[in-house]
Amino acid sequence: MLDLDWKNLPFGYVKTDYNVRSYFRDGKWGELEVSSSEQISIHIAATAIHYGQEAFEGMKAFRGKDGKIRIFRWEENAKRFVNSAKGIMMEPVPHDLFLKAITTVIKLNERFVPPYGTGASLYLRPLLIGTGARVGVRPADEYLFMVFVTPVGPYFKEGFKPVALRISRDHDRAAPLGTGQFKVGGNYAASLSASVEASQAGYSSVLFLDAKEKKYIDEAGPANFFGIKGNKYITPKSDSILASITNKSLMDIARDMGMEVERRPVPVEELAEFDEVGACGTAAVISPICKIEDHKVGKVYTYCHDGEAGPVSTKLYKRLQAIQYGDEPDIFGWNYIVE
Ligand code: PLP
Ligand code: COI
Repeated sequence: MLDLDWKNLPFGYVKTDYNVRSYFRDGKWGELEVSSSEQISIHIAATAIHYGQEAFEGMKAFRGKDGKIRIFRWEENAKRFVNSAKGIMMEPVPHDLFLKAITTVIKLNERFVPPYGTGASLYLRPLLIGTGARVGVRPADEYLFMVFVTPVGPYFKEGFKPVALRISRDHDRAAPLGTGQFKVGGNYAASLSASVEASQAGYSSVLFLDAKEKKYIDEAGPANFFGIKGNKYITPKSDSILASITNKSLMDIARDMGMEVERRPVPVEELAEFDEVGACGTAAVISPICKIEDHKVGKVYTYCHDGEAGPVSTKLYKRLQAIQYGDEPDIFGWNYIVE
């Protein structure tokens, strides 16, 4: 048994035994290669490092009480990965290669899949980069697809404890017809100054507004946003946010719990009307929010439940995790068991 402090793992990088790689050259994908190196060697003029031809995914594998390893909704990640690749003119990774890569890398690193009951999971990071050399701004003709894994705990160090967010009014993450809906590195680069400034001011994360009008909520730096109002689960509809697979799953769970789901533009002022709000994503799962500060306009919204998550967020969180860890029947057919 590996000697890791599973219960206190941060959301960070742990060196594992292997990663997997496949190269797209001469118009086709090559055999999946297994590597134990943490390094890659790429051309000095590769498009990834000049023009941002880079897309990635974030997904998790969970060890159940039965010892089985379950991957959550891999096909949704595979689809989004294709979409992101096409969005920035890269060669998409076929679903069969994606599945082979993630199952292979999990099996090779099985000793890093956290034990059941520790609250930790194995985070998978598929990555696609343009490796072909270009000096003019054009898509590459060669690509490298990789997947590495790392055991992780909660994204926000608070875990399932409420965090404070700050609205960004000085920086936008993505333009309405830009790349916000794709999971590409450029969006994260664009979010860094707002995130660092929010962090320096004592906030866990930043909440971005729509870039055009600054009227509606877009999403948090690394996660989607939702609010609970009575029996309603409300989440922003926007062309510049990432279509979160966690959010999509929570909408299904909310409906299954008898809630009404609304996906529509959410005006900033509506923050005053929610009973509970949260950020959701693979890394964050659900991160309950206790305070949102709109410092540029001097407004603070608070959601107090004695320092804990609200009752609806707690129910949603528990059901999602119960499905992911295999504690509850997989009624939606979301899990893929690694054999
Ligand atoms: N929004 C952004 C910007 C993200 O980086 C993520 C993380 O993947 C999400 C939302 C949540 O998406 P998902 O639930 O598919 O992980
Ligand atoms: C995820 O939730 O998987 C993410 O990618 C968020 C962040 C770590 C970029």
